[in-house]
Amino acid sequence: MSEREIPRGLIQALRYAGRITVLTGSGISAESGVPTFREARSGLWARYDPQQLATAEAFERDPHLVSEWYEWRRRLVSEAEPNPGHRALAELEGRVPVFTLITQNVDGLHRRAGSENVIELHGNILRSRCSWEGETVEPEEGGAVPPVCPNCGAPLRPDVVWFGEMLPAGAFEAASEAARECEVFLSVGTSSLVYPAAALPYEALESGATLVEVNPSETPLTGNADHVLRGPAGEVLPELLRKAFSPTSR
Ligand code: OAD
Repeated sequence: MSEREIPRGLIQALRYAGRITVLTGSGISAESGVPTFREARSGLWARYDPQQLATAEAFERDPHLVSEWYEWRRRLVSEAEPNPGHRALAELEGRVPVFTLITQNVDGLHRRAGSENVIELHGNILRSRCSWEGETVEPEEGGAVPPVCPNCGAPLRPDVVWFGEMLPAGAFEAASEAARECEVFLSVGTSSLVYPAAALPYEALESGATLVEVNPSETPLTGNADHVLRGPAGEVLPELLRKAFSPTSR
């Protein structure tokens, strides 16, 4: 791996920050073998648009199809392991007095990597909830597709936020507070297209934070970032951590 140029100002900002907030998107899990949201269309699923499947209307119209798609994504997630990018963020949490990790990902890999203060804006694909009562429940093994609620018999849906739905109560408010109060805000592996999550870096910027983007590609946020680190998160984040915190880099 070639060493990339990391500006000295960014290294200092990270080293001395009292509060750091990070927003991640599906790009951070790409190196774990979980396809990014917009690329989750391979093999049998190539002809379906994820944006058409991840809706309440699609589930109402064809619960079997939507459940099978989620079953496929669940399998990818349960076979995946956290990568060096996830682990670098977990380590960063231990180095900073106040650290908040906001994620749009539903794969649970940040917690599995050891991150603790995590806000899951879009829920978690490994949980299910009753489509009538809204309660989180354990589906019965090897049953119907979609599985049914053990309490009332209604179809179970993944406990994730679909297009057009509200975020979990309090999640956006907590994320917004963490964005407004941090000194450094990192946007990692997200296309910065889906609101309200995509508004968070702008809130941080307006409150005077240093804004950093980590992404191999350009996004609508790029022009607003103070620092843009082009490359895969699994390489860039460990390097950032090493440069900011290893004793020899002082
Ligand atoms: P997208 O699929 O829109 O974007 C993934 C981003 O990751 C792109 O900008 C890629 O360039 C970048 N990327 C790819 N590989 C990377 C790597 N190795 N390291 C870093 N970045 C990499 O996924 P999201 O931005 O997460 O919401 O999508 C946001 C939301 O859109 C999802 O949570 C989902 C969808 O609507 C819901 O389902 C509610």
